[in-house]
Amino acid sequence: MKTNKQYIELSKKTAAERAVEFIEDGMILGLGTGSTAEYAIKKIAEKKLNIVAVPTSRRTEKLAKKLRIPLAKMDEYREIDMDIDGADEVDPEFNLIKGGGGAHTREKRIAERSKKFIVVVDHTKLVKKLGNFPVPVEVEPSRKEFVEEKLRELDGIPRLREDFITDNGNIIIDTRFDIENPRELEEKLNSIPGVIENGVFSKRKPEIIIVGYGTEVKILKRKNESR
Ligand code: A5P
Repeated sequence: MKTNKQYIELSKKTAAERAVEFIEDGMILGLGTGSTAEYAIKKIAEKKLNIVAVPTSRRTEKLAKKLRIPLAKMDEYREIDMDIDGADEVDPEFNLIKGGGGAHTREKRIAERSKKFIVVVDHTKLVKKLGNFPVPVEVEPSRKEFVEEKLRELDGIPRLREDFITDNGNIIIDTRFDIENPRELEEKLNSIPGVIENGVFSKRKPEIIIVGYGTEVKILKRKNESR
């Protein structure tokens, strides 16, 4: 009998490993960050797939190096064939919250440049409406107070992520919002001076979401393929 935690772990692994089956020989591949993406990374190494990977964080880069996956620099390829990444929340319209690991800025840049974006999650990440998970907002350290004030003006409840500095040398302010319109929120947050990027993904949504349920998966495909 599996505990709930074990079942969730198995669901992450199943979803991530299913995504690896979408990889084609010779692809330039975005490698996501987080515990779910790491199952995909390990599978790619195990299968010794012929790909070149663009990591979305130092954490992912370190793991991929250790597993001897060939790596490219962030800006080496203008276009990436496919990106496999996790998410913290996924709504029915394929809007996401990402950045629980603090890597959402690079994750978004890589997803934007990818021809196909596949998100891998366990079933607990599916929500009717985004917002139970606070939105990670990456901020220039010197603008902390100013940005916090602006976040409150947008009816957010900001909270500094303690003892955390991003790969870009910035801070994260995790902010709770009642999210009615993810697109509007994504734009508003990025228009605050001092904000580098936020974890709402409503412009670059994934084409495919693979949801793990124990040893089973559900593959959700976005109907409107335009970005
Ligand atoms: C990293 O910054 C995040 O965007 C992750 O992709 C997200 O937090 C999912 O992580 P887990 O797979 O560990 O839940």
